[in-house]
Amino acid sequence: MDYVVFPTAGDLARAAADLVIDEISKSDEFVFGLAGGSTPKLTYEVLADAPVDWSSVTTWMTDERWVSPDDAESNQAMVRASLRTEGRVAFVAPDTELEDPADAAERMTKSMAWLTSRTQARSLTFLGMGDDGHTASLFPGTEALESQTDAYLANWVPQHDAWRLTASFGLLARSDLVVFLVAGQNKAEVVSRIAAGEIYPAARVEAEERVLWMLDETAASLL
Ligand code: 6PG
Repeated sequence: MDYVVFPTAGDLARAAADLVIDEISKSDEFVFGLAGGSTPKLTYEVLADAPVDWSSVTTWMTDERWVSPDDAESNQAMVRASLRTEGRVAFVAPDTELEDPADAAERMTKSMAWLTSRTQARSLTFLGMGDDGHTASLFPGTEALESQTDAYLANWVPQHDAWRLTASFGLLARSDLVVFLVAGQNKAEVVSRIAAGEIYPAARVEAEERVLWMLDETAASLL
Protein backbone atom coordinates (compact mmCIF):
# COMPACT_ATOMS: atom_id res chain seq x y z
CA MET A 1 0.00 0.00 0.00
CA ASP A 2 1.41 3.35 -1.12
CA TYR A 3 0.31 5.76 1.61
CA VAL A 4 0.98 9.09 3.27
CA VAL A 5 -0.31 10.14 6.70
CA PHE A 6 -1.50 13.59 7.82
CA PRO A 7 -2.17 14.78 11.38
CA THR A 8 -5.83 15.63 10.82
CA ALA A 9 -8.59 15.26 8.22
CA GLY A 10 -8.25 18.99 7.54
CA ASP A 11 -4.54 18.63 6.79
CA LEU A 12 -5.35 15.69 4.51
CA ALA A 13 -7.98 17.74 2.65
CA ARG A 14 -5.57 20.65 2.10
CA ALA A 15 -2.83 18.32 0.83
CA ALA A 16 -5.26 16.55 -1.52
CA ALA A 17 -6.44 19.91 -2.86
CA ASP A 18 -2.82 21.00 -3.41
CA LEU A 19 -2.13 17.79 -5.34
CA VAL A 20 -5.12 18.41 -7.62
CA ILE A 21 -4.22 22.06 -8.16
CA ASP A 22 -0.68 21.04 -9.12
CA GLU A 23 -1.91 18.35 -11.54
CA ILE A 24 -4.43 20.70 -13.16
CA SER A 25 -1.79 23.39 -13.62
CA LYS A 26 0.49 20.94 -15.45
CA SER A 27 -2.19 19.71 -17.90
CA ASP A 28 -3.91 21.21 -20.91
CA GLU A 29 -6.87 18.93 -20.33
CA PHE A 30 -7.83 17.28 -17.07
CA VAL A 31 -10.39 14.61 -16.15
CA PHE A 32 -11.20 14.57 -12.45
CA GLY A 33 -13.23 11.74 -10.83
CA LEU A 34 -15.11 12.72 -7.69
CA ALA A 35 -16.16 10.60 -4.72
CA GLY A 36 -18.94 11.02 -2.21
CA GLY A 37 -18.34 11.02 1.55
CA SER A 38 -17.28 13.49 4.20
CA THR A 39 -13.53 13.30 3.61
CA PRO A 40 -13.66 14.22 -0.11
CA LYS A 41 -16.23 16.93 0.76
CA LEU A 42 -13.65 18.73 2.91
CA THR A 43 -11.29 18.72 -0.07
CA TYR A 44 -13.94 20.11 -2.44
CA GLU A 45 -14.54 22.97 -0.01
CA VAL A 46 -10.83 23.82 -0.09
CA LEU A 47 -10.75 23.52 -3.90
CA ALA A 48 -13.84 25.71 -4.31
CA ASP A 49 -11.98 28.64 -2.71
CA ALA A 50 -8.69 28.01 -4.56
CA PRO A 51 -7.65 29.97 -7.67
CA VAL A 52 -8.15 27.05 -10.07
CA ASP A 53 -8.64 27.52 -13.83
CA TRP A 54 -11.55 25.10 -14.25
CA SER A 55 -11.85 25.68 -18.00
CA SER A 56 -9.58 22.72 -18.81
CA VAL A 57 -11.26 20.38 -16.32
CA THR A 58 -14.15 17.92 -16.66
CA THR A 59 -15.31 16.34 -13.42
CA TRP A 60 -17.34 13.15 -13.11
CA MET A 61 -19.07 11.35 -10.27
CA THR A 62 -17.59 7.93 -9.46
CA ASP A 63 -20.81 6.71 -7.84
CA GLU A 64 -24.30 7.80 -6.98
CA ARG A 65 -27.28 6.79 -4.89
CA TRP A 66 -30.60 6.13 -6.64
CA VAL A 67 -32.23 9.29 -5.29
CA SER A 68 -33.25 12.61 -6.80
CA PRO A 69 -30.25 14.81 -7.69
CA ASP A 70 -31.47 17.35 -5.10
CA ASP A 71 -31.93 14.82 -2.31
CA ALA A 72 -29.84 15.36 0.83
CA GLU A 73 -28.46 11.84 0.28
CA SER A 74 -27.31 12.54 -3.28
CA ASN A 75 -23.56 12.50 -3.89
CA GLN A 76 -23.91 14.90 -6.83
CA ALA A 77 -25.87 17.36 -4.67
CA MET A 78 -23.00 17.32 -2.17
CA VAL A 79 -20.45 17.93 -4.96
CA ARG A 80 -22.46 20.74 -6.56
CA ALA A 81 -22.71 22.51 -3.20
CA SER A 82 -19.19 21.92 -1.84
CA LEU A 83 -17.19 22.40 -5.07
CA ARG A 84 -19.64 25.08 -6.28
CA THR A 85 -19.71 23.57 -9.78
CA GLU A 86 -22.70 25.56 -11.08
CA GLY A 87 -21.75 27.64 -14.11
CA ARG A 88 -18.01 27.13 -13.73
CA VAL A 89 -17.03 23.41 -13.54
CA ALA A 90 -18.02 20.83 -16.18
CA PHE A 91 -19.64 17.98 -14.26
CA VAL A 92 -20.80 14.59 -15.55
CA ALA A 93 -23.07 12.59 -13.23
CA PRO A 94 -25.73 9.89 -13.54
CA ASP A 95 -29.26 10.99 -14.38
CA THR A 96 -31.20 9.60 -11.45
CA GLU A 97 -34.47 11.00 -12.73
CA LEU A 98 -34.72 8.27 -15.37
CA GLU A 99 -37.10 5.35 -14.74
CA ASP A 100 -34.52 2.66 -14.51
CA PRO A 101 -31.03 2.50 -12.91
CA ALA A 102 -29.82 0.36 -15.85
CA ASP A 103 -30.68 3.18 -18.31
CA ALA A 104 -28.86 5.72 -16.17
CA ALA A 105 -25.82 3.44 -16.03
CA GLU A 106 -25.87 2.94 -19.81
CA ARG A 107 -25.96 6.69 -20.47
CA MET A 108 -23.17 7.28 -18.01
CA THR A 109 -21.12 4.52 -19.71
CA LYS A 110 -21.47 6.44 -23.00
CA SER A 111 -20.41 9.73 -21.39
CA MET A 112 -17.42 8.04 -19.79
CA ALA A 113 -16.41 6.39 -23.08
CA TRP A 114 -16.25 9.88 -24.57
CA LEU A 115 -14.23 11.21 -21.62
CA THR A 116 -11.75 8.34 -21.50
CA SER A 117 -11.24 8.55 -25.28
CA ARG A 118 -9.55 11.93 -24.75
CA THR A 119 -6.22 10.21 -24.40
CA GLN A 120 -4.21 13.42 -24.28
CA ALA A 121 -5.99 14.38 -21.04
CA ARG A 122 -4.44 13.72 -17.65
CA SER A 123 -6.77 12.03 -15.19
CA LEU A 124 -7.02 11.81 -11.43
CA THR A 125 -9.78 10.10 -9.49
CA PHE A 126 -10.66 10.57 -5.83
CA LEU A 127 -12.14 7.67 -3.91
CA GLY A 128 -13.33 7.25 -0.35
CA MET A 129 -13.63 4.02 1.59
CA GLY A 130 -16.29 2.76 3.98
CA ASP A 131 -15.42 0.79 7.12
CA ASP A 132 -16.59 -2.37 5.31
CA GLY A 133 -13.89 -1.81 2.66
CA HIS A 134 -16.29 -0.62 -0.07
CA THR A 135 -15.26 2.11 -2.44
CA ALA A 136 -17.39 4.04 -4.92
CA SER A 137 -20.54 1.81 -4.75
CA LEU A 138 -18.53 -1.38 -5.08
CA PHE A 139 -19.79 -3.06 -1.91
CA PRO A 140 -18.56 -6.43 -0.61
CA GLY A 141 -20.52 -9.34 -2.03
CA THR A 142 -22.33 -7.36 -4.76
CA GLU A 143 -22.61 -8.22 -8.44
CA ALA A 144 -20.60 -5.23 -9.68
CA LEU A 145 -17.47 -6.79 -8.19
CA GLU A 146 -17.67 -9.48 -10.89
CA SER A 147 -17.80 -7.06 -13.84
CA GLN A 148 -14.91 -7.43 -16.27
CA THR A 149 -15.88 -4.32 -18.26
CA ASP A 150 -14.98 -0.66 -18.03
CA ALA A 151 -18.66 0.29 -17.91
CA TYR A 152 -20.61 2.35 -15.39
CA LEU A 153 -22.87 -0.08 -13.56
CA ALA A 154 -26.22 -0.31 -11.80
CA ASN A 155 -25.49 -2.30 -8.66
CA TRP A 156 -28.10 -3.67 -6.25
CA VAL A 157 -26.73 -3.31 -2.71
CA PRO A 158 -28.60 -5.58 -0.26
CA GLN A 159 -26.75 -3.96 2.67
CA HIS A 160 -28.66 -0.75 1.91
CA ASP A 161 -31.67 -2.36 0.23
CA ALA A 162 -31.08 0.07 -2.63
CA TRP A 163 -29.75 0.56 -6.13
CA ARG A 164 -26.46 2.34 -6.55
CA LEU A 165 -24.71 3.51 -9.70
CA THR A 166 -21.00 3.01 -9.78
CA ALA A 167 -17.85 3.06 -11.85
CA SER A 168 -16.56 -0.48 -12.38
CA PHE A 169 -13.02 -1.45 -11.44
CA GLY A 170 -12.21 -1.35 -15.17
CA LEU A 171 -13.39 2.24 -15.49
CA LEU A 172 -11.51 3.37 -12.38
CA ALA A 173 -8.36 1.73 -13.76
CA ARG A 174 -8.44 4.09 -16.75
CA SER A 175 -7.30 6.93 -14.41
CA ASP A 176 -3.67 7.95 -14.43
CA LEU A 177 -3.84 8.54 -10.68
CA VAL A 178 -6.27 7.22 -8.08
CA VAL A 179 -6.16 8.93 -4.69
CA PHE A 180 -7.99 7.48 -1.69
CA LEU A 181 -9.03 10.03 0.92
CA VAL A 182 -9.59 8.15 4.18
CA ALA A 183 -10.01 9.65 7.63
CA GLY A 184 -11.37 8.42 10.95
CA GLN A 185 -10.72 5.76 13.61
CA ASN A 186 -13.50 3.55 12.17
CA LYS A 187 -11.33 2.99 9.05
CA ALA A 188 -8.21 1.91 10.98
CA GLU A 189 -8.88 -1.81 11.04
CA VAL A 190 -9.74 -2.22 7.35
CA VAL A 191 -6.81 0.03 6.36
CA SER A 192 -4.43 -2.22 8.31
CA ARG A 193 -5.97 -5.36 6.80
CA ILE A 194 -5.57 -3.99 3.28
CA ALA A 195 -1.95 -3.04 4.06
CA ALA A 196 -1.45 -6.65 5.19
CA GLY A 197 -2.72 -7.91 1.83
CA GLU A 198 -6.34 -8.79 2.57
CA ILE A 199 -8.75 -8.35 -0.33
CA TYR A 200 -11.54 -5.79 0.00
CA PRO A 201 -13.17 -3.91 -2.88
CA ALA A 202 -11.00 -0.85 -2.18
CA ALA A 203 -7.88 -3.03 -2.30
CA ARG A 204 -8.72 -4.13 -5.85
CA VAL A 205 -8.60 -0.65 -7.38
CA GLU A 206 -5.85 -0.08 -9.92
CA ALA A 207 -4.64 2.92 -11.94
CA GLU A 208 -2.48 3.55 -14.99
CA GLU A 209 0.31 5.08 -12.87
CA ARG A 210 -0.31 5.13 -9.17
CA VAL A 211 -2.84 4.40 -6.42
CA LEU A 212 -2.06 6.67 -3.46
CA TRP A 213 -3.74 6.45 -0.06
CA MET A 214 -3.99 9.72 1.87
CA LEU A 215 -4.80 8.89 5.50
CA ASP A 216 -5.25 10.87 8.66
CA GLU A 217 -3.53 9.69 11.84
CA THR A 218 -6.59 7.94 13.21
CA ALA A 219 -7.19 5.92 10.01
CA ALA A 220 -3.48 5.01 10.01
CA SER A 221 -3.34 4.20 13.73
CA LEU A 222 -3.07 0.40 13.27
CA LEU A 223 -0.40 0.49 10.57
C1 6PG B 1 -21.72 6.54 -0.38
C2 6PG B 1 -20.51 7.25 0.15
C3 6PG B 1 -19.46 6.27 0.64
C4 6PG B 1 -18.27 7.00 1.21
C5 6PG B 1 -17.55 6.17 2.23
C6 6PG B 1 -16.53 6.98 2.98
O1 6PG B 1 -22.24 6.92 -1.42
O2 6PG B 1 -22.16 5.59 0.32
O3 6PG B 1 -19.99 8.06 -0.86
O4 6PG B 1 -19.07 5.39 -0.36
O5 6PG B 1 -17.36 7.34 0.21
O6 6PG B 1 -18.47 5.62 3.12
O7 6PG B 1 -17.17 8.07 3.56
P1 6PG B 1 -16.42 9.11 4.48
O8 6PG B 1 -15.42 9.86 3.67
O9 6PG B 1 -17.52 9.98 4.97
O10 6PG B 1 -15.76 8.34 5.60
